[in-house]
Amino acid sequence: MTQSASKKVTVRTIQKMKDGGERITMLTAYDYPTARILDQAGVEIILVGDSLGMVVQGKSSTVPVTVEEMIYHGEMVVRASERAMVVVDLPFPVGQLGVKHTLKVAAKILKESGCQAVKLEGGSEQSDVIAALVSAGIPTIAHVGLRPQTVNALGGYRVQRNKEQLRLDALTAEKAGAFAVLMECVPADDAQSISRELKVPTIGIGAGNGCDGQVLVTNDLLGIHESPSARFVRKYANLQAMMTEAVMQFQKDVRTGEFPSADESY
Ligand code: KIV
Repeated sequence: MTQSASKKVTVRTIQKMKDGGERITMLTAYDYPTARILDQAGVEIILVGDSLGMVVQGKSSTVPVTVEEMIYHGEMVVRASERAMVVVDLPFPVGQLGVKHTLKVAAKILKESGCQAVKLEGGSEQSDVIAALVSAGIPTIAHVGLRPQTVNALGGYRVQRNKEQLRLDALTAEKAGAFAVLMECVPADDAQSISRELKVPTIGIGAGNGCDGQVLVTNDLLGIHESPSARFVRKYANLQAMMTEAVMQFQKDVRTGEFPSADESY
């Protein structure tokens, strides 16, 4: 039996998948119906990403997203997820405000949303924070490589080519107790060699095929997006076009008197 057929996904399931050479799937969700679809489809990890600032709220970055918003969306996703592990992002600048503050906020997110784990942008310079979260019983994913919360300092979303920094961040996060390392927008060869070196699973986004798992923003995968997608996005559907078509059909039927029919009336 594969891991994907078994019960509630935990940190142990994720580790066993890496050890058994089984690839891990992770997707984002911000609401109940989407999380339900992902959970029933068998995705192992549902991420309530702070990408919600961009794809749900229409903002230009993830920076403005608040703790309360993460809890609000996290709680809906948790309620929908019977099997998948739900991970909620620590929004900017939570992870930068020291161990005590991060612990307090992460615990609040865990208690109020009901999620099983958190994700924190940062690696080597966040090792004390990761270690404190883990020792408090809060499973943590470290997000290294491109860290969207630092977009203002980076001057844009760019591929991160400093392999030594990436390796240091990933290895330090593992040593601090992170149960997985997410690598964003890094060269495929770097991600592959680091994935082989780490004992914990790596999840890639724009990090090539050598990671232990892959994550995408679900809105990108489903094609519910106006702006052009990054190179690493594979669009598996064009829901934007399907939804527009359905809405236009509704308008046509209303205007011509086709809707509602007698069967759709009392
Ligand atoms: O916020 C998010 O959705 C993420 C993914 C891009 C990995 O961090």
